[in-house]
Amino acid sequence: MLKLIKTGMVFLMIGLLASCAKDPKHPGYIYTPDMTYSQAYETYAPNPYGDYGSNAMQPPAHTIPRGFQPFHYENNISDYARAGEELVNPLEATKENIAEGKNFYEIYCAICHGTELDGNGRIVSLEKFPPPPSFFNDYMMNLPDGKKFFSIHYGKGLMGSYASQLTKEERWKVILYINSMQAEKK
Ligand code: HEC
Repeated sequence: MLKLIKTGMVFLMIGLLASCAKDPKHPGYIYTPDMTYSQAYETYAPNPYGDYGSNAMQPPAHTIPRGFQPFHYENNISDYARAGEELVNPLEATKENIAEGKNFYEIYCAICHGTELDGNGRIVSLEKFPPPPSFFNDYMMNLPDGKKFFSIHYGKGLMGSYASQLTKEERWKVILYINSMQAEKK
């Protein structure tokens, strides 16, 4: 019985070795042609049908990707002012929301604005970046939520946009946290 197994193993080994192609550029035998040669359309391959000339089609006008949240303000001064007047934080200032906002603040903002919100972030103390305004100066204390939101969305001056890092909800949470810290100084 053992001998049989051994002989079997030898044949198996020979079989396995023999199945290696001699030419390394040869892909070997194709057992499943329908997988090797895809029947599916390639995204950018030409397609004579339709208006696009290729398989990839433009989405119909005014569609948005799943999960995308449009922002109905252009990046200009008048829309900045309008955002300041119109945008209202949809979230409640609950302990959880503020705690989450603090977490996001510490990840994305504290590096410049400082964990104390005084504009003395690590990057500033290393003299790599001019100090951003303290959240406790008159201007920042009176900055409407909508303008804060707008500036987080588009960035302002040397501050970049955080639109791709923070969802709208997360931004509102950061604002709740900033406001809660500012309220302590009022
Ligand atoms: C790279 C450094 C840096 C980071 C990181 C940063 N900021 Fe700023 N921020 C600045 C600077 C500089 C200004 C002043 C911009 C100006 O007025 O020219 C500023 C201004 C602001 C303002 C005032 C905007 C206005 O409308 O006048 C707010 C609010 C603000 N930051 C919030 C945040 C929040 C929230 C985060 C994190 C999501 C953040 N910042 C991350 C540097 C930074």
